[in-house]
Amino acid sequence: MENLEADFKNLTKKAIQLASLIKKQDEILVVTHIDADGITSGCIALESLKRCNIDADIIFLKQIDDGALQQISDKFVWFTDLGSGYVDLIEKYKIECVITDHHVPQKPFENQLNPHDFGYDGSINLSGSTTTYLVARNLGLVDGNLGLNYDLSAISIVGAVGDLQDSKHGRLMGLNRFVLNEAVKNGFIKVIKDLRFFGKQTRPVYKMLEYTFNPYLPGISGNEKGAMEFLESLGISLKNGEWRRWIDLSDGERRMVISEIVKVCIEARMPVSLIKKLVGESYIISYEEEGTELRDAMEYSTLLNATARYAKKYGEESCYIGLRVCQGDRDAYKKARSLLQNHRRNLSDGIRYVDEIGIVELRNIQYFHARDEIMDTIVGIVAGMCFYKANLKKPIIAFANNEDGIKVSARATQWLVEKGVHLAKALTIAAEKVGGKGGGHSIAAGATIPEGSEEKFLKYLDELIGKQLKRF
Ligand code: C5P
Ligand code: C5P
Ligand code: ZN
Repeated sequence: MENLEADFKNLTKKAIQLASLIKKQDEILVVTHIDADGITSGCIALESLKRCNIDADIIFLKQIDDGALQQISDKFVWFTDLGSGYVDLIEKYKIECVITDHHVPQKPFENQLNPHDFGYDGSINLSGSTTTYLVARNLGLVDGNLGLNYDLSAISIVGAVGDLQDSKHGRLMGLNRFVLNEAVKNGFIKVIKDLRFFGKQTRPVYKMLEYTFNPYLPGISGNEKGAMEFLESLGISLKNGEWRRWIDLSDGERRMVISEIVKVCIEARMPVSLIKKLVGESYIISYEEEGTELRDAMEYSTLLNATARYAKKYGEESCYIGLRVCQGDRDAYKKARSLLQNHRRNLSDGIRYVDEIGIVELRNIQYFHARDEIMDTIVGIVAGMCFYKANLKKPIIAFANNEDGIKVSARATQWLVEKGVHLAKALTIAAEKVGGKGGGHSIAAGATIPEGSEEKFLKYLDELIGKQLKRF
């Protein structure tokens, strides 16, 4: 039985231990992951180091491998949002380091803070960013009291939302709530109960509805005219000079839309569990301007994904754009917004491409191969988005070409995880069998495998997932 209070105390003890090791260093390199959780984790580490006068620099990695580690083997490294799954390699290069991560650990490691080591699933309980925050808050002592780094709790919540840690229950859960409470208590985050759709701050309401595919709203999702007519039928004016956004609607209008959407979902025979999740918590960043992406953790994290996941295409600079957004740089915010347009286009092109080639079903899994048509760094996001039109009872496996061979991204549903599916475990084994390497979480995982090994990999994976589901 979980005892959150006691376990949080134990995590804090470990965090204090790591903070004191960090404080002994003069110079630290922060090495982080190229997604929203990674950028926010990196930013939290970097800021907290600078605030205690430690020379700090940061680099972004798509994944840990020999090449990357060789180049940093002479540094003291703070790995954030990556590392736990690759401890053997870190040890091979004898890298002095601390790790704050939430991926499934490969094996025990002394200088590591990871929720799994305390019996908690890192895809729900703590993200890379909230794990990193737990160490950062202990670097922020003033006269022996915590407080200097409380502000960093807000972007740690953005990272947790970026990793969809609130998707299972429509709210952040477990250990994340200690961080959330700290952010709320100190005035950095406001929690509101609201529709859990994307784009409430920035999109015209009809666009917000048209672009909602999770859940799929018949007659509205992907249907501009349908979305407009739905709102007009409720007597809601679409424009008031400008297109009206969700935040521009009155409380009464919002309630009316929500209850009509619930009716649409009931008519579509959607499971009650999904309907219940239409409304949940939204995390508002109090100090950011209303009507911008930065105001809402869900939109903020997508903005960050639009920067970091394009490092290969636009150079490492795109990661720094996301980082500078978190540091409050408004010029970087403008650049990030233009990258966001591009990200949205790539996602919808990706989904269209999957429509064209189709998803192939095997006994226990389903897959598509995007080759060079979808970037390896976003193919996982596309795979997750494809669930609305795929079989919800089989994990989706996506392949894309990359410079190291074939990138694999896998996504499951909560239902599958409850039935026993653990993608990280299955991908790690199947990848190793074909000479690759993988890891991640139970619900979302990834791997890199040699070109040409896809068929063999699929065969192993299909069997492993079958065993997890006890279908064989
Ligand atoms: O590497 P990292 O842990 O940051 O990535 C987690 C990935 O898992 C994200 O891409 C996130 O979107 C995905 N995820 C998911 N469904 C969940 C939880 C996480 O697709 N319920
Ligand atoms: O890249 P993608 O979003 O599909 O990654 C899903 C999850 O799998 C992330 O948590 C990522 O860190 C992990 N992953 C991994 N090893 C890889 C690729 C992805 O642990 N080679
Ligand atoms: Zn993460």
